[in-house]
Amino acid sequence: MLMLRSHLRPSLLRRCMVSVSVQLEPQSVEPSRTVRPALPVRMDRLMAEQLVQPSVQTGLLVGDPKRQQFDVVVHCKEKSKDADKNKGKGKDKDKGGAGGDAKAAGKQPPDKCKKADNKGGDDAKKPEPKKEKRMKNFEIYRWKPGEKPQIQTYKLDLNETGAMVLDALIKIKNEVDPTLTFRRSCREGICGSCAMNINGTNTLACVTAIDTGLSAPCKIYPLPHLYVVRDLVPDLTQFYEQYASIEPWLQRPNLAKELGKAQYLQAIEDRDKLDGLYECILCACCQTACPSYWWNSDKYLGPAVLMQAFRWVIDSRDEATEKRLCYLQDPWKLYRCHTILNCTNTCPKGLNPARAIVQLKQLLAGAKKKPNPKIKTDTMFQANKC
Ligand code: SF4
Ligand code: SF4
Ligand code: FES
Repeated sequence: MLMLRSHLRPSLLRRCMVSVSVQLEPQSVEPSRTVRPALPVRMDRLMAEQLVQPSVQTGLLVGDPKRQQFDVVVHCKEKSKDADKNKGKGKDKDKGGAGGDAKAAGKQPPDKCKKADNKGGDDAKKPEPKKEKRMKNFEIYRWKPGEKPQIQTYKLDLNETGAMVLDALIKIKNEVDPTLTFRRSCREGICGSCAMNINGTNTLACVTAIDTGLSAPCKIYPLPHLYVVRDLVPDLTQFYEQYASIEPWLQRPNLAKELGKAQYLQAIEDRDKLDGLYECILCACCQTACPSYWWNSDKYLGPAVLMQAFRWVIDSRDEATEKRLCYLQDPWKLYRCHTILNCTNTCPKGLNPARAIVQLKQLLAGAKKKPNPKIKTDTMFQANKC
């Protein structure tokens, strides 16, 4: 067990790497090795007092095993740049102390911190060199009910804007025009809510980098061929209704009896068949890039919905395959796809809805059959007598 020996001064903690002198009760920890903070070095208390970043995962143990004196170097909150620069030097010094000097363990930290303090002060005095402004136009579709649609141009300095188009939109909304309306949530390509048309391509604003060429404007429109609720927000009601129509959930005749009795196991080969399908975030980029969907969106289900239909058809645990295929058997829902591949080209997640549609057509035409599951889920439930 490691015990906190020296008293930590908050001023040190905030500014630099801190050495904490600790005493090792049982022997078995080697010096100079990185340890996980199973160290009860009062990390919990430090974190509670917000003196140490909660994300600290490791400390560096430096010291003398014979005398059972160790330094535990922890990263501190609001660590200064200079502390980072001196990190290497600091570690070296610590290693020097590993020769077995408990005194050094106690005295080094304040010296190191002083240096960090001084350097930080010098740097603070130096004025930062002024960067040349990089002004770029953002031409954004604006519309609200009762008014005519228009393109509004906003100028932003790229030096003060994040790298992604969503960063620019957020900056405009926060600092220039709070009436600009768009959807976003996760800002990392997971939720699908920031789908829009950027420079002619349907994509996610949060994972699309701003083109740093300053001469060409960045043109941002809502997803095409959908009704607009306002500005960059399209009406996805029909899309969600179509998605619901394929009943995207597990269906088995004895589902009610089976629930909670055993797990629906799936062989690795069967699970692999879902790869490239389950990752869809339903952003509707592919759906609204499909010319067939543009012209027949009321009858044709569209690539995103069809890909999800295939995801459930091919799932080894699902037993409604025939019903699902029958639902698609008409001239519109599936067969309006003419394999133009706009959907696959535009998917920001790199998925291939067109291939899923082809596989659906093969199953419907009887050219291929759904393979039998490798693990017979039914037998498992019989074994559990449900
Ligand atoms: S491949 Fe089919 S679903 Fe994809 S864009 Fe073309 S017509 Fe639409
Ligand atoms: S297939 Fe790709 S583009 Fe289409 S909805 Fe799913 S994630 Fe979006
Ligand atoms: S904000 Fe979630 S995908 Fe862009």
